[in-house]
Amino acid sequence: MDRVKNKSLLHKSSFINGTWVKGDGRTSFNVTNPANGAPLMSVENATEADVHLAIASAEKAFPSFRSLPAKSRAILLRKWYDLIIENIDDLALILSLEQGKPLAEARGEILYGASYVEWFSEEARRIYGDIIPAASSDKRILTLKQPIGVVAAITPWNFPSAMITRKVAPALAVGCTVIIKPSEETPLSALALAELAKQAGFPEGVLNVIVTKDAAMAGDIFCQSSVIRKLSFTGSTAVGKILMRKSADTVKKLSMELGGNAPFIVFDDADLDAAVKGAIASKYRNAGQTCVCANRIFVQEGVYDAFAEKLKIEVERLNVGSFDTKDVAIGPLINKAAIEKVTRIIADATGKGAKILLGGEPHALGHHFHQPTILTNVTRDMACFSEEIFGPVAPLYKFSSEEEVIKLANDTPYGLASYFYARDIGRIWRVSEALEYGMVGINEGIISSEAAPFGGVKESGNGREGSKYGTDDYLEIKYLCMGGLT
Ligand code: SIN
Repeated sequence: MDRVKNKSLLHKSSFINGTWVKGDGRTSFNVTNPANGAPLMSVENATEADVHLAIASAEKAFPSFRSLPAKSRAILLRKWYDLIIENIDDLALILSLEQGKPLAEARGEILYGASYVEWFSEEARRIYGDIIPAASSDKRILTLKQPIGVVAAITPWNFPSAMITRKVAPALAVGCTVIIKPSEETPLSALALAELAKQAGFPEGVLNVIVTKDAAMAGDIFCQSSVIRKLSFTGSTAVGKILMRKSADTVKKLSMELGGNAPFIVFDDADLDAAVKGAIASKYRNAGQTCVCANRIFVQEGVYDAFAEKLKIEVERLNVGSFDTKDVAIGPLINKAAIEKVTRIIADATGKGAKILLGGEPHALGHHFHQPTILTNVTRDMACFSEEIFGPVAPLYKFSSEEEVIKLANDTPYGLASYFYARDIGRIWRVSEALEYGMVGINEGIISSEAAPFGGVKESGNGREGSKYGTDDYLEIKYLCMGGLT
């Protein structure tokens, strides 16, 4: 942390009602560097009282914040964006240190996250209602879009910055106030963003950050609170289901960005070099730790061997190392449990007949590093077919027909991202329409963008983040019926 130049970005405690709340006997925990386990900073655990205080502060701030002209909220968001960009080097460094991704990738995430703030600073002024033709001439039907109220956002460790801005920027744009609960693995990026929001001039209580190791405590309070009208969560499907159940009593509006099991299909008419490039971008981004990473790579039998060989050559070139190593492409996994999961998934596959084309072992660098791995001869009875790997392992399945691969691709409860490479225009339409997924990359391995609606179907969740649809999740439509107009 000594290398961070702007020391005002470094905070050790929760941010509530415009203040860093600390001391008073709160316990602490260490945030560590996943590349070597070294402690980076000791941060204070928020108490139950802190969570309640954050909710009360957001509730108090809501009436005046929602009443600000949209242009004023747009200006605040724009200032926040400008400050994020001014501090990009320090923000990327903090992110790499606590999350492990290579510095260049961390800079990419800061830019990606900032793009949501910029986008929603522009969208803030475009929240339109309607006038709808009524069934009788003495009436008029109007709709207003109004902010839903206090929002809680529970965000993950794999994108410690972008998953916050993607939820918070649309909420603030439309006049909601927010409480963020970042992952306990990566709270420092969240606190740095809060510092910049404070500097941008957001009023007290509009944006609060709760840092705690006791995620269940904060989650329970959020779910039970009738003040919180909206809960937005990015994380596992298992936790998403718990939050959905627990929110039932307060009938909250929910956005759930949950797990994925992305198929990546390479048809025999594909441009194989482009498919290899796309597979690497999708599979090995963030060391395989994204919800949209290619999880099952299906390759048509005529091009299977050629694709596997080309992929191997390119993956061999990916350097594994700590975030600041020269030309590093793959950092460590987040923790020991992640390494154990990858090891178990590889052992399960090889035990059932898969072959290791490349890698297959924890990396010689030790700690949480793993070799980029390619498995061939993979079949649907293996754990890697049904589980989200969340690591740098590419399993290659062989298929014969379009019909067969559509069935395989859809044979999962998940429905977040999917990808395919093909040239035939008829096939492109058929496959795009048949894939039961919220997002389809066609001859493209990177689909994330602030201008596009990110989200899933089935057990991958609901709601859309980013794009012109991104504000919908934070708005209520109110219908006004004006009568007696004769
Ligand atoms: C995620 O893994 O949840 C987000 C990935 C992205 O935004 O591209």
